[in-house]
Amino acid sequence: MMLSRPVHVVALVLICLGGSTSAASAEQGRQSSSSILFSDKEITKIKRHGPWPPPLKRDPSNKVSGNVGAIKFGRALFFDRHLSKNGQVSCATCHRESRGWTDGVAISKAAGTAVHRNTQSLLDVRFNRWFGWGGQADNLWAQSIRPIIAPTEMGMTARQVVQLVRRDQVLLKHYREVFGGAASFDDAEGALANIGKALAAFQETLVSKRTPFDDFRDALAARAWKAAGRYPVSAQRGAKIFVGRGRCGVCHFGPRFTTGEFHDAGVPYFIARGKVDSGRFDGVKAVKQGPWNLASRHNDDPKKSGAWASRQVVRLHRNFGEFRIPTLRNLAKTAPYMHNGSLPTLERVVRHYSEINMERLHSDGEQILKPLKLSDGEISDLVSFLKTLSALN
Ligand code: HEC
Ligand code: HEC
Repeated sequence: MMLSRPVHVVALVLICLGGSTSAASAEQGRQSSSSILFSDKEITKIKRHGPWPPPLKRDPSNKVSGNVGAIKFGRALFFDRHLSKNGQVSCATCHRESRGWTDGVAISKAAGTAVHRNTQSLLDVRFNRWFGWGGQADNLWAQSIRPIIAPTEMGMTARQVVQLVRRDQVLLKHYREVFGGAASFDDAEGALANIGKALAAFQETLVSKRTPFDDFRDALAARAWKAAGRYPVSAQRGAKIFVGRGRCGVCHFGPRFTTGEFHDAGVPYFIARGKVDSGRFDGVKAVKQGPWNLASRHNDDPKKSGAWASRQVVRLHRNFGEFRIPTLRNLAKTAPYMHNGSLPTLERVVRHYSEINMERLHSDGEQILKPLKLSDGEISDLVSFLKTLSALN
């Protein structure tokens, strides 16, 4: 068994050289600038970051998931500024397509008040288990209702929202077609759930495209070494650090490069003097109390699958200052980074991990992160790798 790895490595080099058979050229191939050698263990780890896209399933908690009419209605709502108290703010004010459905600033000032987190991308949001940096919602429609009625974002009351979708002729028509009647004042909570579900149906269509990394990953999986060799060599070296010494893949796991859970990655969480963003700690409380969570009557799934997690989840001290592990797809358009937008470039993010301040991490929590002390070359390799996780156009 000990022999299997070197044999494979030689095979890789030979194929990269287009079938040359001499050991000397194999050695030359090892040094060649078009390929880096990967062990079977590394290939196994890289394969886990695909395939892309994953299978698209309907959301059982949302009766209009995948419904064409609902997608159209959701799109109309998403771009409609009337959905805000001052008539100035739509979802698209902060979630702009040209910026990977974010806004390009650390903290949005769009609503004029105290939003204190970086706008998350909506690409691939349909695959989330929890929503928001603190996981304050357990489903996409609940998370979509939140900004409409949050005083710090669009600032509407439930009644005002119902009034809008009854009075505006276009929205009224959409609502009737999708939900079979006009929104009701008597059940404003149910009407808001429907609006959230239409917004969710639209956002489910935002699935990101394949990337240079995906081609590389599929080539490795198919053992098509020549095709794999087309992937930039610095990104190959970066991939090695990512799955190896950097241990990035422990948290940034799977096709979306996230386990979907929460961690403390050493980003300070002070908002102002004496005021902190407690992250997952308050997220757990919010999800349990949310009127639109999966345990509520608004979940259309008769089996209420997923509801158990929100019922069972308990707040732990270690959740304080934990944030959801973000996906690493589409980073090219979603700067600045981290829950508070504090790091402007990918190089700064990699330097953050390279020099991580252990005193900022939870004493009881983190066993995974430690300063990686990367060289400048290694930092630029890891950045090259991260850049290949975005589509080219
Ligand atoms: C003022 C800017 C702003 C507006 C307006 C806004 N958002 Fe957001 N959005 C954010 C921020 C900031 C976050 C991160 C929220 C958090 O963690 O608390 C976010 C998060 C989200 C998420 C969660 C993404 C994820 O990966 O979990 C969804 C979904 C979302 N917004 C949808 C919407 C919809 C739908 C609207 C319109 C009804 C909207 N947003 C309006 C700024 C905004
Ligand atoms: C212990 C789990 C963990 C490990 C290991 C880890 N990360 Fe992260 N990563 C996170 C969390 C959590 C965040 C969000 C932190 C925050 O905003 O407070 C994050 C944020 C990021 C971001 C910003 C993404 C965005 O959209 O804002 C990038 C890029 C990133 N990590 C890359 C890496 C790389 C590269 C490595 C390896 C050197 C790595 N991570 C290792 C958990 C981890």
